[in-house]
Amino acid sequence: MLAELACFERPCRARFPIDEAIYNCPACGGLLEVVFTEEPSEADAWKELWRHRRTSNQAIEQSGVWRYRELLPFDGHHHQVVSLREGNTPLLDAPRAAQYGGLDRITFKHQGFNPTGSFKDNGMTCGVTQAMRLSRSRVACVSTGNTSASMAAYAGAAGLDSIVFIPHGNISYGKLAQALEYGARTFQVEANFDQILALVRVLADRLGIYLLNSINPFRIEGQKAIIFEMLDQRDWNPPDWIVLPGGNLGNTSAFGKALRELCRFGLIHKMPRLAVIQAAGAAPFYQFMKKGGEFHAVAEPKTLATAIRIGDPVSWPKALHELTVTNGAVEKVSEQEIADAKAVIGQCGIGCEPASASTLAGIRKLTESGIMRADEDVVAVLTGNVLKDPDYIYRYHTGELKDPDGGKVEPTLGNRPVVVPNDADAIAKMLDR
Ligand code: F0G
Repeated sequence: MLAELACFERPCRARFPIDEAIYNCPACGGLLEVVFTEEPSEADAWKELWRHRRTSNQAIEQSGVWRYRELLPFDGHHHQVVSLREGNTPLLDAPRAAQYGGLDRITFKHQGFNPTGSFKDNGMTCGVTQAMRLSRSRVACVSTGNTSASMAAYAGAAGLDSIVFIPHGNISYGKLAQALEYGARTFQVEANFDQILALVRVLADRLGIYLLNSINPFRIEGQKAIIFEMLDQRDWNPPDWIVLPGGNLGNTSAFGKALRELCRFGLIHKMPRLAVIQAAGAAPFYQFMKKGGEFHAVAEPKTLATAIRIGDPVSWPKALHELTVTNGAVEKVSEQEIADAKAVIGQCGIGCEPASASTLAGIRKLTESGIMRADEDVVAVLTGNVLKDPDYIYRYHTGELKDPDGGKVEPTLGNRPVVVPNDADAIAKMLDR
């Protein structure tokens, strides 16, 4: 549909053309969002159209993002789409995880099945397509790892130069390896995510590089498709809760916006509640939502779930709005809780990276406190693939995992590899026990 950029701040609401390369409102500095400027006449027919597209062999229809392009702001530019067949991620039942979380049933929407192994691909296909629309040749981001892997891949596919900035020593090797392999110029900066974001914004302005952090409203547009696809897979029956990890809070913003649009256009008639889970050592949004008052950044965020090691999340005003609209909840979880929940998800044959496991850890706390009921219909979004951070897995299972303060994370569900002699009798004896 036809669209514009609008300032997210209600007192301002200034409007800008959709092809203006801005990341904040030039009038008041607020966040920007995409708004549609026309009312669809055929929204009723979309569900059938989207279902029908799943049977097509055309690249754009095979994408679990672009299949829903009626709700994306790219009219007239579909020939410029850069896609790696993102989305199409499964809904998985996990009875053991449900039991651990205090629920009768849980479904995971596993974004780790994406081309680069995280939910960032849903947004990046739109971000890089917007770079093409704007005829930009260079794109950049700061990242805790997944955004950089995704941007590098999509820029590579589009033939653009990509420049990645990451906090030195604080991203997993799986993610760093992806950025290198996909050909991004990679800078490891001696600073944390929040500090590097400020640096990259200055550089992007000075050098005319297109910035692809989640402050970029087109990334948020693509991430809406996680919700569109989830509801399509559920025959448009909204769950009671959608649970996700919170870092920079871009995904929370995207999920809320997607749900609002589906309600507005009559595609769903009930609003699920969003539950955002943060790591206790990087939980500024949790603190803010619990205490109210001003938003205070955490100066030195700490967590082994490095994907969500963010102390000053840029999208908090949007996330506040979306949690209010959806009557949502926030929770925080410890390193031990994340590690154990992650091992449970692994035992279900599913697996995920540490940040993703905060969802199940959070659900366990939300059911314990009675905020979430056992019989409620819950979808938890696993944001990244199990192989993103193998070092963490090995350390947990062998009892070597230390929290950021040097304390031991107990291998509650540890599963150590065993060294054995090359001797059938000896091994048979061990297996008989
Ligand atoms: N889960 C994973 C696996 C992530 O990589 C991220 C964010 C989040 C959750 C949190 O999402 O920021 O939208 O609240 N990773 C970013 C990155 C910051 O640079 O890859 P959010």
